[in-house]
Amino acid sequence: MDWQVPLADLDMGKAERKAVLDVLCSRWLSMGGMTERFERAFAEMVGVKHAIAVSNATVALHLAVLALGIGEGDEVILPSLTFVATANAIKYTSARPVFVDVTSEGNFNLAPWEIERAINRRTRAIMVMHYGGYLCDMPEIRRIAGEHNLFVIEDAAHAPASSLDDRMAGAWGDMGCFSFFANKNLATGEGGMVTTDRDDLAEKVRLMRSHGMTTLTWDRHKGHAHSYDVVALGYNYRIDEMRSALGLVQMEKLYLNNALRRDITRAYQDGLKGVEGISIPFEDHPGISAAHLFPILLDENMDRGAFMEAMKSRRIQTSIHYPPIHQFTYYRGQMGEIHLPLTESIGAREVTLPLFSKMTEAQVGLVVEGVKEAVRVRGSAGAGERG
Ligand SMILES: Cc1ncc(COP(=O)(O)O)c(C=O)c1O
Repeated sequence: MDWQVPLADLDMGKAERKAVLDVLCSRWLSMGGMTERFERAFAEMVGVKHAIAVSNATVALHLAVLALGIGEGDEVILPSLTFVATANAIKYTSARPVFVDVTSEGNFNLAPWEIERAINRRTRAIMVMHYGGYLCDMPEIRRIAGEHNLFVIEDAAHAPASSLDDRMAGAWGDMGCFSFFANKNLATGEGGMVTTDRDDLAEKVRLMRSHGMTTLTWDRHKGHAHSYDVVALGYNYRIDEMRSALGLVQMEKLYLNNALRRDITRAYQDGLKGVEGISIPFEDHPGISAAHLFPILLDENMDRGAFMEAMKSRRIQTSIHYPPIHQFTYYRGQMGEIHLPLTESIGAREVTLPLFSKMTEAQVGLVVEGVKEAVRVRGSAGAGERG
């Protein structure tokens, strides 16, 4: 499809091409000096002691749950309005994901009071997801976690360089997990990062990232070791040097690109103010958001399929974040029927509009006009229908 306004686009240029070519010329392709530099820079940005680069955020989350010693018989509280990987990472360890509802139609993040209601003697951790880059109510969630002696894991896939009260996403929980997937604010194709302040957790993640081996090929190359022991059942969750080099260049652009995303978010908020048939979440959200997504919520009487078709006819790409996890066939089979009224209502009515740092004013204008028209058409023809 030849989109006039795609949902997302990358900021990739000469610097990224050079960084990758330099790695190829260096003839050291996986987990070496570039990865060490990427990890140091990322830890510094987040303001934590350790950052451990991995293959993607899904395995980052898996390692976080494992490192905290969570497994069979344990429960982890999380939202259902997130990408399925958030829950899968818990299932991989045989722990039980416990889905709870979100805050409101204006805030798609986990509701602290729903977290409190779900806590029982099997609960070990709260896994938050900062929807669209807007931080969850972390002071309150940390208070709850402290009171009940629970770990906090942040799925910060949407939130590199997001902050609240001058504290970055990834520095609020015991562990933070980031994604560098191809459509993320900091993109390396595939890639992820685990952040933590705790030495013991960092050591476990490093070990499990590479087969539970006590030394790496890189250590042996540097002459620091001749052999290795295997002290745990680990995985190959490593990152390669091309991606780490890309990540370093993308990190340099992150603050500016996030600021551009926030400018576009404000332009959308202004352009769509007062438009009948929709509402806009996170309008007065505290903190600084990475503005990864721009979600809108259609009124109950709107037909979402028709709305998205109308946008498509103008060659404007839209998407849905997210179909609730507890409604997927696999999870229904695993957990039985659960009812999360707000999550289900938002999951049925949310539409994500295009948002990327290089979006032009003209493109924002096209989307705003597209929404106004799509809403007008549906307002007259679709009243009473449900998407
Ligand atoms: C909220 C959330 N969590 C986890 C992931 C998984 O990230 P990855 O694709 O890097 O495994 C994503 C990716 O889209 C995501 O959006």
